[in-house]
Amino acid sequence: MCGIVGYIGASAVKKTLLDGLKELEYRGYDSAGLAVMQNGRIEAFKAAGKLNNLVNKTASFEPKGFAVGIAHTRWATHGKPTEINAHPHRGERSYVVHNGIIENYQPIKAELIGKGVKFISQTDTEVIAHLYESFLAKLKDPFKAFETTVQSIEGAYAILLIDETAQETIFFAKKGSPLQIGEGESGRYLASSDAPLIGVCESAIYLEDGSWGYVSEREIKIFIGKNIVSPQKKPLPATQGAAQKEGFRFFMEKEIYEQTKAVGETLASRLTANSARLDELSADFFDEAASLRLCACGTSYNAALSASYLFERLAKIEARCEIASEFRYRDPVLRKNEIFIVISQSGETADTLEALKMAKKAGLKTLAICNVDNSSIAREADATILTRAGIEKGVASTKAFATQMTVLWLLAIYIAQRNGADEEAIAKEIGAIRRVPSALAIKPERHERIRRLSKRYLHGHGFFFIGRDIFYPLAMEGALKLKEISYLHAEGYPAGEMKHGPIALADAELFTIALTPKTILKEKMRSNIEELIARDSTLLAIGGDEAAYADDRLDIDERDHPMLEFFETMTIIQLLALEIAVRLGNDVDMPRNLAKSVTVE
Ligand code: G6P
Repeated sequence: MCGIVGYIGASAVKKTLLDGLKELEYRGYDSAGLAVMQNGRIEAFKAAGKLNNLVNKTASFEPKGFAVGIAHTRWATHGKPTEINAHPHRGERSYVVHNGIIENYQPIKAELIGKGVKFISQTDTEVIAHLYESFLAKLKDPFKAFETTVQSIEGAYAILLIDETAQETIFFAKKGSPLQIGEGESGRYLASSDAPLIGVCESAIYLEDGSWGYVSEREIKIFIGKNIVSPQKKPLPATQGAAQKEGFRFFMEKEIYEQTKAVGETLASRLTANSARLDELSADFFDEAASLRLCACGTSYNAALSASYLFERLAKIEARCEIASEFRYRDPVLRKNEIFIVISQSGETADTLEALKMAKKAGLKTLAICNVDNSSIAREADATILTRAGIEKGVASTKAFATQMTVLWLLAIYIAQRNGADEEAIAKEIGAIRRVPSALAIKPERHERIRRLSKRYLHGHGFFFIGRDIFYPLAMEGALKLKEISYLHAEGYPAGEMKHGPIALADAELFTIALTPKTILKEKMRSNIEELIARDSTLLAIGGDEAAYADDRLDIDERDHPMLEFFETMTIIQLLALEIAVRLGNDVDMPRNLAKSVTVE
């Protein structure tokens, strides 16, 4: 989703801004732009499409020495992804980049138009620059004009604004969208996530909601309302970590292969000989817990749904799942003895973050399962268990899901222990969870078989991924992977529910991907498959059940625990989606219309 970079310093400003945008590229965007101020003059460039178009546009722009710059990658919300709608947006002498949505932009725009202001874009963002300038004309003071602008806008935002009359200064404001300030040897930086700051700054200041102020060559001033806030610096890692394709065709492919290692990291120091250890949780964290409420979006929601089966089965604790965007507006009944668990790879998903705030406000104890330390969600929750997946670049989530599922399974074991589960049962779970890394290892012959098979699944009028129990959410995840990167219509469905409607679609052009584990509800799955075969649906069975008669089969290894079958099956559906998308010639890592981190609701 939209990304922001700002820089004040003397180190190759254009390159610094473009490098910063490059680090944000994987999050998804459809246009980009930058503005650079030197000696009281601003030059700006924008381009629709990929960052390379902006690189080409700025090829002969080589500002030397000290400069102030802002840059942006845009994921369209208001107005098409055109060059005109790309950021920075300008007034007469000021330029602004913005993430989020200005909810009251229409009345502001109407009022400004009434005063003769001309708008050229369809965006909500453009009002910020014009509003600022209208206050500047009245107040004759950039600082006061910016303060009044921030007071006048509503919605969620991270904003950077530069103005030719306020040289050497970047104004900023943050509410609901992430923004951080970094200081390095080569200058001061602002960014919407850590990625552009890592390697150039040692520490970052994570701005709280309601913060606004300015960064100049001399100082950083942060306010909340009228009060000055003293910045709290947090250390940043020295390097970006593994973010190269390392010989793989796509980041997604690399990340699928990396799952075995990533889950090894997730489990490190969290298992003893016969128990699960979660040092992040205080000993009394679950003392009052009567039930769990899990809340997330996208792939993380699928993890929540799978985990709800584990919590009830292993830990004997009621677990309900919520899609964050629904939860927020349906006036949910919340009980104080319920633990609210949010799951988020990025830690920045707007709906999940707001749901978390709602639960906190209602007095619930909150827990985040998150991949990004210092993210908004990790900072907001009472406790956080980090998934330790490392940076995930592919928009279609893979290793983040695997590590979330591992943490959730660990948590289910942890609560089961506390709830007095039978030692033998716990020992069985511990023995099984230790073997997840090996269940995730991908054999070259398996990958090759999936690649060859993929050519038979490129057409048809739709895909149904079906499964039962924990394999139902996994079926949903398989369908999500496929539609995200192949653009083919796919649905995940509970296998037993097909006969209540979707089976009407069954014919030879309907592809059913049936998840057929051997260790759980095997017979039931067989019946559901028979019902589809009888209606001529083309069926691919993924699992181990030989009796599941199918047109094609991808068998997993012999496993003695449903979760191990779950993880191995997961790698197959991920690779299948990947190979279908590759054959269709799609951009696997940056699929159309999608963003990695969705910071608007
Ligand atoms: C976006 C991503 C998905 C992700 C979802 C939730 O839609 O494209 O891959 O599952 O957001 O993201 P989160 O960071 O909260 O897990």
